[in-house]
Formats: sequence, C-alpha cells, structure tokens
Amino acid sequence: MTSSHLSRIGTPLSPSATKVMLLGAGELGKEVIVALQRLGVEVVAVDRYENAPGMQVAHRSHVINMTDPVALRALIEAERPHLVVPEIEALATSVLADVEREQLAEVIPTARAVQLTMNREGIRRLAAEELGLPTSRYAFAGSLAELQAAIEGGVGYPCFVKPVMSSSGKGQSLLRGPQDVEPAWNYALESGRVKEARVIVESLVPFEYEITQLTVRAVGASGKVETFFCEPIGHVQASGDYIESWQPQAMSPVALQRARKVAHAVTDALGGRGIFGVELFVKGDEVWFSEVSPRPHDTGLVTLATQRLSEFELHARAILGLPVDTRLTRPGASAVIYGGMEKAGIAFEGVAEALAVPESDLRLFGKPESFTKRRMGVAVAGADTVDEARSRAKLAASKVKPVKD
Ligand SMILES: Nc1ncnc2c1ncn2[C@@H]1O[C@H](COP(=O)(O)OP(=O)(O)O)[C@@H](O)[C@H]1O
Ligand SMILES: [Mg+2]
Repeated sequence: MTSSHLSRIGTPLSPSATKVMLLGAGELGKEVIVALQRLGVEVVAVDRYENAPGMQVAHRSHVINMTDPVALRALIEAERPHLVVPEIEALATSVLADVEREQLAEVIPTARAVQLTMNREGIRRLAAEELGLPTSRYAFAGSLAELQAAIEGGVGYPCFVKPVMSSSGKGQSLLRGPQDVEPAWNYALESGRVKEARVIVESLVPFEYEITQLTVRAVGASGKVETFFCEPIGHVQASGDYIESWQPQAMSPVALQRARKVAHAVTDALGGRGIFGVELFVKGDEVWFSEVSPRPHDTGLVTLATQRLSEFELHARAILGLPVDTRLTRPGASAVIYGGMEKAGIAFEGVAEALAVPESDLRLFGKPESFTKRRMGVAVAGADTVDEARSRAKLAASKVKPVKD
C-alpha cells in the first residue's frame, strides 16, 4: 500500500475500508482506537488476553501471542490491514520487518524504529554513539563479572541496572555500592522480558526534573513529513511507573530548545509517521536523553485534558497522513488510579465525587482483572495553573475507590 491511499478514508466493514491493526490493546491503544473510529477507520485490536481495553472499542479483536512470529504473521496475512500499529514492545519484530519489506502493510512508525526501541542497547547506541546525544554514562553486561567490571571501570555509583529487554521499571535496581551488584544482576535476570542475560548499567543522572517531550512526525503543509512538538510534560515516577504528570512543565528557554533538538534528532533517525514520547532528564540548562517510545506515552494521558488534540488523536492523524495541531489549550495534570487489590471484575465507587472536582475527567480502562499495582484508570484535570491542576487530578483520583464487586 502506498501513502496516497491514505488521502482517502473508506467505509468500515466494506471493501473500501481503511484498516488499521493495533498490536497491543491496553489503555493507550484504546484511546488511539477511539480516535481512529471517529475518523471512520476500521480497527482490529490484538492482545494476549481477552477483553483487553482496546478490544472493547474495536470492530474486531484477536487474542494471540504476539511474540510468536508464526501466529503474528498468520494474523496479518488474514486481516490484511493497511497499517500495523504497535502499542507494546514485546512483539516478534522480525515479522514486522518482513511485512514492511514485502509491502504487505505499513508498520508504524517503521519496523526498524520498533526494533531499535524494544531493546535498550539498540536505542542507546543510536542516540549516544551515532547521534552524539548527551546521556548518562553507560555500559552493557552479559554476566555478573562483566557488570562488576563495567561499574568499577567507569560507570561508578550510584547507578541503575536494567534488563535490555524490559519496560515499566521491571527488573530495574538502583545500586549504591558493591554490595548491591549481585542482587541487582539476579533481579534483572528474573524480570527481563526474554531470558537473555543482558543488562544496561547507567550512572544516575542528578536531574532536577524529568520530562516527556511528545514529538509528532506528520505530513505538514509542505506535503512532506515534518516534526511538531507538544508542550513538555513533567512527571513523577515511583518504582518505574508513572504516578502523576502535568503539562506544561516550566523550563528555561535554553533547556527547552535543547530538549527539542534532542527529540528532533532521535525521532528523525527513527523515521516514519506517528507520535513519539522522548524521555529526557533536565538540570538547569542541561538535558540528557533517556529513552523514547515510538508511540503514545503513558505520561501523555494528561493531553486528554490539555491539548486541542490529545496525543492519541495526534497519533491517529499522523499515521493516516493527516494534518496535526499540537497546541495546548489549558494547563492540566493526570493522576493514576491503581487497582489496589488482586481480583477479576472489580467495581469503582466514588466516581460521582471524582467528577465533581472542577474541570476533571476520568478514564476507567475496563481491564478485566485488577492487580495491586495495575493501572486501572486515570484522573485528568485542567486549571489556570499546573499546581492547581495537579491538586485537582490527585483529588479526583483519590475519590475513586476500587472495591470487590
Ligand atoms: N540513569 C538514570 N538516572 C536517573 N534516574 C533514572 C535513570 N534511569 C532511570 N531513572 C529513573 O527511573 C525511571 C524509569 O527508567 P526508564 O529507563 O525510563 O525505564 P522504563 O523503560 O521502565 O520506563 C525514569 O523515568 C527515571 O525516573
Ligand atoms: Mg521510561
């Protein structure tokens, strides 16, 4: 399929349909699907379990193991979507490369970008060694001895150890001295997505704050792909998971300019169309690249309250080759609602009280099963100032009480 096909949109469930397949149908995918549905796109949701959030709003869904190349290939061949849109990292990316090369479907943003960003080694080497972007000191290790040598040999303490294939803080440790090395190695091995014994060790960056610079590669007025920036999003992380975000994050003009230069360079190198969440650490005017998602970012849920087009609507438009508008309309914030218990089919009380908070809104994701630390919903709120928006979002989130049905 060629991108000229994208200048028209067909009728869903008819031969003219413009078809998009989401690989991963969590809460971020659900919002992308809603945005695509509104534009008249036929959407197929795929995940590894039934009734995933995105499946509940898609035209059709399939439950498969997306790391199984045979199953993934067979599904793409059966559905023949125009676009294949990864929402998660744990995919058989070799299939995506084949699908792209054979022009069976277009992979968003590109198969190479998906491949590079699913592995911390791929994206870190691209950013630091090929593009020369500032990052923490780092090294890679495939054994405990190599890890010890890497830390002694230059990375130093304090440092972070992370499996190269992992996300959401899984298998990640902060090391303060030599006594922490062996436990960190063992923990990383247990928790990595694949059983490959490989970690990145990174020096701790003494940042004042961290941001997500949402960056959109979309067809612009020139008719070619251009780069558009959202206002920076500030966030707080706890054990590798975001708990609160706000937009705009106040930054010095120099830091903002540097952040965008880094975001531009890395997204340019990854290519394709769509939204990217570029994670950066900031101290004064100094900016370090951390990592990048070639898809909507969880901290970007705040854009449901702050932008004329949320990050999900921006992604939908960008991948379809349509114009985008990244403008902020209101300061805002988001606060995560955790399950707080291990149970299938929970209920939420306090929804009315939450929505009585001024300028607030909620997303309850509809996940079939709750875990104590599973993100089950989010509260967002707008206000005149970021501080007030943060208070409102946290207040609204605190009113929502997951209960055993
Ligand atoms: N080198 C580092 N220096 C300081 N903080 C870090 C560093 N690496 C990770 N962190 C903290 O841990 C969080 C999660 O790390 P990250 O590499 O983004 O993992 P994940 O892919 O699981 O999101 C970051 O957002 C940041 O708060
Ligand atoms: Mg991260």
